[in-house]
Amino acid sequence: MDKSILNNISYGMYIVTAKDEKNVGCVINTLTQVTSDDPLISVCINKQNYTNTVIRKTKKFAVSILSEKTNSNIISTFGFKSSKDIDKFDSLSYSLVDNIPVLDENTCGYIICELVDVVDANTHDIFIAKIIDTKKLHDYTPMTYKYYHEVIKGKAPKTAPTYIEETVDTKDKEVWVCNICGYVHEGPLPDGFVCPICGVDASNFKKKE
Ligand SMILES: Cc1cc2nc3c(=O)[nH]c(=O)nc-3n(C[C@H](O)[C@H](O)[C@H](O)COP(=O)(O)O)c2cc1C
Repeated sequence: MDKSILNNISYGMYIVTAKDEKNVGCVINTLTQVTSDDPLISVCINKQNYTNTVIRKTKKFAVSILSEKTNSNIISTFGFKSSKDIDKFDSLSYSLVDNIPVLDENTCGYIICELVDVVDANTHDIFIAKIIDTKKLHDYTPMTYKYYHEVIKGKAPKTAPTYIEETVDTKDKEVWVCNICGYVHEGPLPDGFVCPICGVDASNFKKKE
């Protein structure tokens, strides 16, 4: 099966947030508006993501809609690290709305949601949720998944439902691949090299044979 056609499906870029004892959240691209009267949305979240566990428990979450102004460090933190291990909101400007954290800066706005149904999708859960509140924060251009890949040169990890493994041509070339985010570096890794996408050091890179 040629999965490359799937790269033609369009998405936006979002941070889904929730709160139990601590603030949690992760990057997603798989948000869809499902209905318009009494509106419902769906988000697709990996069962391994800590954000999934907290949404299942609290039945509430928020979605911050990222804009083209969103700093790529925020995407690295929320998209490649787990709230299990770190406080992703440390040194980030956010507000609590309905006791759920939402990002204050460089987003278009946010949606507050109440969980109404969960569909089991193997590795992922599709959360269907009722929109209970919204706020537009800035008149910025929303970031698309395509913009993230083509302009920011970002990658998606294996936990993303839309992950597609890249094929890399290693003929006559030394090629190193980041184990965390899949970033591909051509040529020897320089001293003090860190991944430009997810920030890990050279020990996380594997030479492609
Ligand atoms: C561009 C991008 C898109 C992503 N899309 C999704 C997604 O739609 N669903 C998902 O479960 N994870 C997605 N991820 C992966 C999660 O953000 C990532 O696994 C995160 O580290 C989980 O954090 P948590 O354990 O704190 O919940 C995406 C990551 C990136 C960088």
